[in-house]
Amino acid sequence: MHNYPLRQKEKEARLIWASVRATLEAFRFKTKRSGKKSKSNWTLFKRLLWIFQFLLKLTGVYKRGLANAKNINVKDVTLIFEDLPPAFNGFKILHLSDLHIGTIGGLEDVLIRKIRPLDFDLCVITGDFRMDITGSFRPVIPAMEKLLDTVHPEYGILAVLGNHDTYKMVEFLEPLGTRFLLNETIHIEKENQRLCITGTDDTFYYYTDMAMYALEDSSGEFSIALSHTSELSDIAAENHYKLYLCGHTHGGQICLPGGLPVISHQKGKRERVSGFWQHNGMTGYTSPGAGVSGIPLRFNCPPEITVFELVRKS
Ligand SMILES: [Fe+2]
Repeated sequence: MHNYPLRQKEKEARLIWASVRATLEAFRFKTKRSGKKSKSNWTLFKRLLWIFQFLLKLTGVYKRGLANAKNINVKDVTLIFEDLPPAFNGFKILHLSDLHIGTIGGLEDVLIRKIRPLDFDLCVITGDFRMDITGSFRPVIPAMEKLLDTVHPEYGILAVLGNHDTYKMVEFLEPLGTRFLLNETIHIEKENQRLCITGTDDTFYYYTDMAMYALEDSSGEFSIALSHTSELSDIAAENHYKLYLCGHTHGGQICLPGGLPVISHQKGKRERVSGFWQHNGMTGYTSPGAGVSGIPLRFNCPPEITVFELVRKS
C-alpha cells in the first residue's frame, strides 16, 4: 500500500502550518475566508441540542433516530470524465467523511462491516474524526486504528482535517497508515500516468490563505480536491480541478420529510448540503457523512459511505 512519504520541503512547510493551526486552536476563534472572526458558540449549541435530545427521549422518536444513525448506506456512483488518464479508467475511490468517533459507541464496528466487502483503489477521508471541537482527541486513536486495520487499498488512505479536529491528531493517525494532506498535493502514478490530489486544511474554523494557495498547484493534470467544506470550490474550479470531495454538513442530519435540513451549517448554496453539485465545469460531491455530531440521531437523512468509480468517456 502506498504511503506517500514527506519530502524535506513538505516537512518544513508543515512546521509553519502546525504553528499557525496551533495558534488558531489555542485562541478558539473561528477564522473565516471572509476575514470575519467570532468566538465559537458550540457550547450554547450543544446545550440546546441536549434539551432537544431530552425531549425526544420522552418519546419513542429517540430510538428511531439512533437506529437511523447506525444504518449506514453504501452508495455507488459512476463519474464520467473526458480527460481522465486512461490508466485510471475504472479507478475506485472510497469516500468517508464526518466519522465523529465516540458520538455513537461502536460506530467503527458498523463501518468495518460495511467497508470490508467493498472493492476500491484509494480511500479518502474528508475530516471530522472527533466528536467535540475541543478537549481530548485520544479516544479517536484506538477506534481509528481498528477501522484502518481493515482498509488496505493499493493507493493508500488520504485525509484532511475538519473543524472538529485538532492538528495534534496528525502525528497519531499518520503512523496508522493515513497520509494527511495539510494544504499539500500528492500524485498517484499508474502505468506512467498521474492523478493529482490536493487536500486543504479546514476552512470553516481555521481558514488561512495557505489553503487557497494549495489549490493553485494542480499543474494542468487531472486533479481532485479534498476539503472539509465546499468553501474553496471556486478556487479549485479556477485551477481546473475536475472533482471536489467534501463533507461537513451531514446532509443536515436532522431533516424534515423530503430531506429538507433544519440546520445545515452551509450558508447559501442549498444544493451543496448533500450530494452532487457543479461549479464552473467542476463536479462536486458533499458527503452526508457516516457519523453524527451534537446528538446521536438522524431523521430523513441516512448516513453514507460513497464509492466513486472514475470512468473515461470513450
Ligand atoms: Fe462533521
